[in-house]
Amino acid sequence: MTRHFLDIDDLRADELEELLDLASAYKEKRKEGVPHPDLERRTLGMLFQKPSTRTRVSFETGMTQLGGHAIFLGADDIQLGRGEPLKDTARTLSRYVDAVVARVFSHENVEELARYATVPVVNGLTDDAHPCQTLADLLTIREHVDEGGSNGGSSNPFDGVSAAWVGDGNNVAQSFALGCGLAGIDLTIATPPGYGIDEDVLERADELGVAPTVTDDPAAAVEGVDVVYTDVWISMGQEDERDLRMDDFAGFRIDEELLANAPDAAVMHCLPAHRGEEISEEVLEGERSLVFDQAENRLHAQKGLLAWLLER
Ligand code: CP
Ligand code: NVA
Repeated sequence: MTRHFLDIDDLRADELEELLDLASAYKEKRKEGVPHPDLERRTLGMLFQKPSTRTRVSFETGMTQLGGHAIFLGADDIQLGRGEPLKDTARTLSRYVDAVVARVFSHENVEELARYATVPVVNGLTDDAHPCQTLADLLTIREHVDEGGSNGGSSNPFDGVSAAWVGDGNNVAQSFALGCGLAGIDLTIATPPGYGIDEDVLERADELGVAPTVTDDPAAAVEGVDVVYTDVWISMGQEDERDLRMDDFAGFRIDEELLANAPDAAVMHCLPAHRGEEISEEVLEGERSLVFDQAENRLHAQKGLLAWLLER
């Protein structure tokens, strides 16, 4: 059966572990210069309705490193932009390529692509979810706690790990909440009132094992945690809400003052970052920052994902 990857809870916990192991193995091989053409002659179609630096470049170079090929399909460059239905696009692409990664606005659009595609569809970000980011984030956290030895040597690398999300309960937050549920990370989410993650996502995280704690107090949320994570206050497509959001998110910036409550915490951000808004320059560039490890891990995690989806 064709497996799709529309959100992180499309995976079981054991599959997540298998995939992170595969990602780590690819990371090691790349570091050692060991060739790994596991997807030779395979082609990835990349359907993008929104801009991207990390997702686009990591998928494209990832396919090259795996011996395959990627075709970038900006939505306005293909007939989709002139009104060809998604369901026809999905069925047509499936006759040419081995997998499709899609970055779109509505989450329903990736669901529709997956319904009609006969090859795996990977969510490269929707308004509601960003599971490829979460895979890289979990790989980054696993490496970080492994280095610090802070999980007490348990067989589950995420045992005893705690995280706080501070800011908007957006697409990255929602997939991260589900990822924490799946991995067993104790998560607290601090958002201004009205900007929390969806009720349905809270329920899904609960079903996976760990429901996040929800608050509107950033200082309380970060107290004593291992990881503090934030993302932009204005996501792609929300540009008209800028003034309102800048007011509503005041007090939710990750800066040294807030981090005084989390003396040992590493800091994460999916990038791109808006310095001086959701995160200070000092913190982003500081010693606690894992942001470029996260960005690098997009490459390794997605190579693991593609190989896992296509070689099963
Ligand atoms: N984090 C992330 O997805 O970045 P891009 O928008 O640059 O792909
Ligand atoms: N929340 C951001 C993430 C960008 C990678 C957005 O959707 O614009």
